[in-house]
Amino acid sequence: MQLKAILYFLAIFLLFVSMRPLTEKEQQNIDQKVRSFLDSRKSQWDDMNVPEADGQVLYNLIIRNNYKNALEIGTSTGHSALWIAWALSKTGGKLITIEINERRYKEALENFKQAGVADYIDARLDDAHQLVKELEGPFDFVFSDADKDWYTNYFKDIFPKLQVGGCFTAHNVSNTGLYGIRDFLSHLDSLKNVETTIDRSSRSGISISYKRSE
Ligand SMILES: C[S@@+](CC[C@H](N)C(=O)[O-])C[C@H]1O[C@@H](n2cnc3c(N)ncnc32)[C@H](O)[C@@H]1O
Repeated sequence: MQLKAILYFLAIFLLFVSMRPLTEKEQQNIDQKVRSFLDSRKSQWDDMNVPEADGQVLYNLIIRNNYKNALEIGTSTGHSALWIAWALSKTGGKLITIEINERRYKEALENFKQAGVADYIDARLDDAHQLVKELEGPFDFVFSDADKDWYTNYFKDIFPKLQVGGCFTAHNVSNTGLYGIRDFLSHLDSLKNVETTIDRSSRSGISISYKRSE
C-alpha cells in the first residue's frame, strides 16, 4: 500500500516537472545550444533540407500562434525539425516527425541530441503514407515536406485532426512544375474554411493554410 502511494506521488511529481514551463536560465541554455549548433552547421545541410530562411518562417509561425502539437512529414536529417522543436521549447509543445529513410532518420536523431532539443521531438522511422492516417492528433501545426505528389493525400488525412486556428504548411510550392503541387494548391483553394498564403522568404515557397472552422 505504502509503495503504491510512493509510486503515485512520484508519477504526479514527474508529470508536474515535465509540464512546467522552463525557467529563464533553462531556456537560455537551450537557445545557446541550438544557436551554436545551427551556426556550426551553416551551409552544410545537403540532404534536401530547407534553407535557414524557411526554418525561421516555421519558427516564427509557431511562436506567434503559440502552437504546441506539431507534426512534420519528411524529417530528412532534421534541419526544419530543429527550428520547429526550438520554437516548441518556448511554447511547451512537442513535435512528431516522420522519415522513411533509415540513414537520414539516424542522422537526424544525432542532430537533435547535439542541438539539445531531443526532448521536444518524437521521431518516427516509418512510411508517412500509412502513419499519417493512424496518428490520432489533434495537431495545431503541420509541416509537409516529403513526397510532393502525396501532399493532397496528407492534407486530406490530417485536416480532420487539425484544430481550428491551426495551420498546415507545405514546402516547395513555388515549383508548380513538381508533380502534385498544382493539384495540392487547387485543392486548398477549393476549401471555404481554409485561408492560404504563400511565404516566399526563399525560392522554395511555403504554403501556410489556416483552418478557420470545422
Ligand atoms: C525534402 S526532404 C525533408 C527535409 C527536411 N524537412 C529538412 O528540412 O531537413 C524529404 C524527406 O522525406 C522523406 N520521405 C519521402 N517519402 C516519404 C514517406 N512516404 N514517408 C516518410 N518520409 C518520406 C525522404 O526520405 C526525405 O528524407
